[in-house]
Amino acid sequence: MIISKTNSQIAKMHTAGKYLAELLAVLKENVVPGISTLELNKIAEQWLNRKGLYSPFKGYRGYPASICVSVNEQVVHGIPTKREIQLGDVVSIDAGVVFDGYVADAATTVAVGEVSEELQQLLSVAENSLYQGIDKMREGNRLYDITHAIQSYVEPYNYGLVREFCGHGVGRKMHEDPQVPNCGHRPNTGPRLRCGWVLAIEPMVNLGTASVHIESDGWTVVTNDGKPSAHFEHTVAITADGPLILTEFT
Ligand code: MF3
Ligand code: CO
Repeated sequence: MIISKTNSQIAKMHTAGKYLAELLAVLKENVVPGISTLELNKIAEQWLNRKGLYSPFKGYRGYPASICVSVNEQVVHGIPTKREIQLGDVVSIDAGVVFDGYVADAATTVAVGEVSEELQQLLSVAENSLYQGIDKMREGNRLYDITHAIQSYVEPYNYGLVREFCGHGVGRKMHEDPQVPNCGHRPNTGPRLRCGWVLAIEPMVNLGTASVHIESDGWTVVTNDGKPSAHFEHTVAITADGPLILTEFT
């Protein structure tokens, strides 16, 4: 069941999203050589505490941290550890904020120092694919128009678009219906999009093949070929004026 949001509910999610954009900006500044992913999580927890906010990740199905940090071959859901960031790494940070009972969910991927053109292109294609998907979030379009926009944008680059994890509805809960796949559907199929729906769009793009597996920690998703991966995510409302990105830094 897809739960539409009222304007005042979307306003709360927008407040959550503005906090989240600020948090991600703080974390990005701290992605420097020598910092551990656990220290990044600590910075997030202290920041959230100071604002009187909390993360929807912590305790979600037993997830032990407030953010996910996925380095290089780690795709998503990286549990923070003592692993230290190094020059040349690509680091995905996925975070969430709950404000007045409403969730915002977003992720970004940053390069640490100078990285190869190959990696810069991976990051920009992954980020652009997110915006291609978001641009389809208009009443009258259909759900898999979003999917198709992402897939058809990424396809020419011969990257691996991860199949196993999807975008999703967001609201009082982090994961609501519908699932928003990043590939595998034809355009002009799926349910009609409605004003008031709020979706998290989150393509995961691998430099190599699309194959991934989950590590023995039960969470961290890694590429099977060990090549790097990028992940970008926004929480977006469908309004009469088109898509409204709730987690954009302003
Ligand atoms: N943003 C991710 C998602 O949409 C992260 C949630 S996983 C968690 O699925 F367990 F860490 F919460
Ligand atoms: Co998400």
